[in-house]
Amino acid sequence: MDKLAIIGGRPLYGEVAISGAKNSALKVMAAALLTDEKLTLTNVPQLADVDMLARLLAQHGAQIDFSDGTLTLHAKDIISTEAPYDLVRKMRASFNVLGPLLAREGKAKVSLPGGCAIGARPVDLHLKALAAMGAKIELDEGYVIAEAPDGLKGADITLPFVSVGATEHTMLAAVLAKGATVIENAAREPEIADLAKCLNAMGAKIEGAGRSTIRIEGVDRLHGGEHRVLPDRIETGAYAMAVGATGGELTLTGTDGELLGTALAALKEAGLEIDDTDKGLRIKKTDERCKAVDIVTQPYPGFPTDLQAQFMALMATANGAATIKETIFENRFMHAPELSRMGAKISVDGQNATVRGVPRLKGAPVMATDLRASMSLVIAGLAAEGQTMVNRVYHLDRGFERLEEKLQNCGALIERVKD
Ligand code: UD1
Repeated sequence: MDKLAIIGGRPLYGEVAISGAKNSALKVMAAALLTDEKLTLTNVPQLADVDMLARLLAQHGAQIDFSDGTLTLHAKDIISTEAPYDLVRKMRASFNVLGPLLAREGKAKVSLPGGCAIGARPVDLHLKALAAMGAKIELDEGYVIAEAPDGLKGADITLPFVSVGATEHTMLAAVLAKGATVIENAAREPEIADLAKCLNAMGAKIEGAGRSTIRIEGVDRLHGGEHRVLPDRIETGAYAMAVGATGGELTLTGTDGELLGTALAALKEAGLEIDDTDKGLRIKKTDERCKAVDIVTQPYPGFPTDLQAQFMALMATANGAATIKETIFENRFMHAPELSRMGAKISVDGQNATVRGVPRLKGAPVMATDLRASMSLVIAGLAAEGQTMVNRVYHLDRGFERLEEKLQNCGALIERVKD
């Protein structure tokens, strides 16, 4: 398994091109199953998760071509409505093929998902929404078997709590349902509006995406289209935090600070200078230590759970004590013991972590446990004195495009060590 060797202590200077958002790309890709025409997606990041979903879509019958960030998907005929365990277990987002297959073919058999080990992460809300639209659903030997021989019907769906995946999955199914679907308490993440934009470009009728109530008027068929994936706000935040931890100045191109929601204010409060310039989002940090800032993860526009681990790495060297409360996932502090190996002072109590900043972290061998946690170890390694070896880099390859190259271009000493 590949590792990343990092010699820390160097500030970052230069430009980083922010990639298209992984979490949006994966959902708009699933939309390709809804039409027999070609869907062209641009600004698609070259990531292991994207490759994995492309393989699953090919297995359902889509013809796929991917070069230079442009991905074309053409599911002229669906040749299989079954998504096997081997292709779904590695990535939870694969589960989103269920809705489109059901909506287009009237049936689907999809393995229950796997993904990052950050909690139980059930799919009960996804299944309840599909059932409310008239699907008959059974669970058998780890598979969801769903049928809607006469098609799905629009329904009023109130989510008991905000779920990004359930909101997106409901949209992906409701676009071809008969009649109107209204989703109440919908997630408002920018990726939801991006998915709606793509589906509307394909002929869907979705209103309100990005707000708590989304209304979808079902249509008989969707056509092909073109869509540019929005910038990755988690990658944006992660590079901003890297500068916060190391000092220096980076210009992040192809992104937008507004996508960060309240995380933008937290970063500014911690002492980062963040400005919109003609070239991009400029992030600057002087040599002084960051200020400790308390955060609570929340659905958008609150502080994103996907930046919590990276923020903990930043707070590990801040001046003072910060409390971090994780409210979205129940098991998302696995990076804390790894950061402690580097000298961070962190105590965890249930949903709460207290981080007492130290002047300097020390490099150490550490193990990546999930995608975002891995990035927190990279940030800590960039800031630490001496060498850090991050094991299990495959997690990073799932979600951060050309990570070493982007960091090397800004002066970081980081290298992939092949095993
Ligand atoms: C998506 C993102 C992930 C991010 C998360 C929250 C993708 C590919 N992944 O994940 O990076 O961390 O949003 O912003 O876009 N839940 C249930 N039942 C369900 C669905 C969810 O109990 O049917 C729970 C989950 O276990 C979790 C919470 O709801 O505790 C929120 O999960 P959700 O917003 O659905 O996250 P994902 O869509 O899985």
